[in-house]
Amino acid sequence: MDNTERSRKILVVFFSYEDSTRTIAESIAEAVDAELLELVPRDSDNGAKIMNYVWENQSVTMDSEPELEDFDVDPDDYDLIFLGTPIWAMTFAPPFKTFFSRVQLEGKNIAFFYTHEGLRGVAVENLRKELIGNNIVGHADFYDPLNSDLEKIVLSAASWAREVLYLMRAVV
Ligand SMILES: Cc1cc2nc3c(=O)[nH]c(=O)nc-3n(C[C@H](O)[C@H](O)[C@H](O)COP(=O)(O)O)c2cc1C
Repeated sequence: MDNTERSRKILVVFFSYEDSTRTIAESIAEAVDAELLELVPRDSDNGAKIMNYVWENQSVTMDSEPELEDFDVDPDDYDLIFLGTPIWAMTFAPPFKTFFSRVQLEGKNIAFFYTHEGLRGVAVENLRKELIGNNIVGHADFYDPLNSDLEKIVLSAASWAREVLYLMRAVV
């Protein structure tokens, strides 16, 4: 692979519990021809801090930094990385806590997106904190995709991703 080919690589990393974020992630990956990496928590009790995340009539038990199914990714292989998470308890979902501890992200072009049901809390602030040292080239907010006009949201996600890529190439 030559340098030109390398510099075109794009990755979309996502976690999704009920498929909203997955739907957006897949649309983005298709729009900009990116690879997809799904963060999959392992069913494990490793003694980490077990949390009970409650949302409306749902309750999910998960470590605050859950073990993930193995993945092998080198951020340096990518020119642009999209990160996508549902909002949980007013911030990004726990699998990204693990991802940020395991993967060294520095000096990368990063765009992040999140899906939620109206209470974004401090997700943007917390993601920005985790991503200090990187170049944030965009972020996008998708309100309750599966209970909205999904087709419209999926198209807007694809346009946003293409715009991020276009702008990044124009300035970087
Ligand atoms: C455990 C849990 C906690 C949640 N906490 C919030 C929250 O704090 N604010 C919010 O707007 N939505 C919250 N939600 C709703 C999800 O963010 C929303 O439905 C999202 O689109 C789900 O994405 P997914 O289908 O990819 O899992 C929560 C959902 C779950 C399951």
